[in-house]
Amino acid sequence: MHDSRETSARHAFVTGHPVKHSRSPIIHGYWLETLGLPGTYTRQEVSPQDFAGFISRLKGGESGFIGGNVTIPHKEAAFALADRPDALSAELGASNTLWLEDGALHATNTDGFGFLANLDAVAPGWDKTGRAVILGAGGASRAIIQAVRDRGVSEIHVVNRTVARAQELADRFGPKVHAHTMAALPEVSKAAGLFVNTTSLGMDGEPAPDFDFSPLAKGAVVTDIVYVPLLTPILRQAKQQGFATVDGLGMLLHQAAPGFEKWFGQRPTVDAELRRRILADM
Ligand code: ATR
Repeated sequence: MHDSRETSARHAFVTGHPVKHSRSPIIHGYWLETLGLPGTYTRQEVSPQDFAGFISRLKGGESGFIGGNVTIPHKEAAFALADRPDALSAELGASNTLWLEDGALHATNTDGFGFLANLDAVAPGWDKTGRAVILGAGGASRAIIQAVRDRGVSEIHVVNRTVARAQELADRFGPKVHAHTMAALPEVSKAAGLFVNTTSLGMDGEPAPDFDFSPLAKGAVVTDIVYVPLLTPILRQAKQQGFATVDGLGMLLHQAAPGFEKWFGQRPTVDAELRRRILADM
């Protein structure tokens, strides 16, 4: 049977508030261009009060979109309004990728996938560690805790200025996840093979924190989800102490791939030229 979607252009979006700084259109535009696919991927500025209406028009087919990405502050509402959120989204209570399929609005969250795919590409073998340290307990931290836990790392230590927020995540993500104050950092870092910064520490005009990475395991990987600048104060410090570092840009690129495949039917690749294009825009 002829599927008209094979040849006709499909349209996807990124919505947020504000959404003008989103770099996702560069990523999807690059993939559409290099794969030679008809279609568009555009920014849709939608305020919180208009979000339910936006989703309703998407479900009804009136917007002409087949799906899209959702960013701050709509990820929780996207999860709540989807007909078929997957189990990953349900545990996080937030979705960043939506698509229409069989008349229903499906939702997933690809942040954890992007985090793992980037580490696998740049630091293969990182997952042999039994212990990971995650600094920060905000939205980005959740998807990373979930992904690292699901990959099989047996001890995940969440260190946060406000320990109650870390404890909330430990309660949510189960017995492998432990909450700590910042003061516990040297102790929980002992023999850890992965250190992830999910905070803006050192980026807000305050002096860069003086972390000592030396308790980490030999060959440990230090990564930051902040990617402007690529070499964050935390990565610079880890590098100076001789550790392998992974910047945050790759996570952004890899998290985009599953959505693209859902909307446009082909699995794209994250290549050096795509990285170059994003860097040229910064
Ligand atoms: P996101 O959703 O992007 O992760 P968020 O929810 O605002 O952002 O979380 C930011 C994280 O950075 C939090 O873990 C925050 O710590 P608190 O929970 O104690 O607020 C952390 N953070 C931000 N600035 C910080 C600072 N100057 N010192 C220590 N932690 C900081």
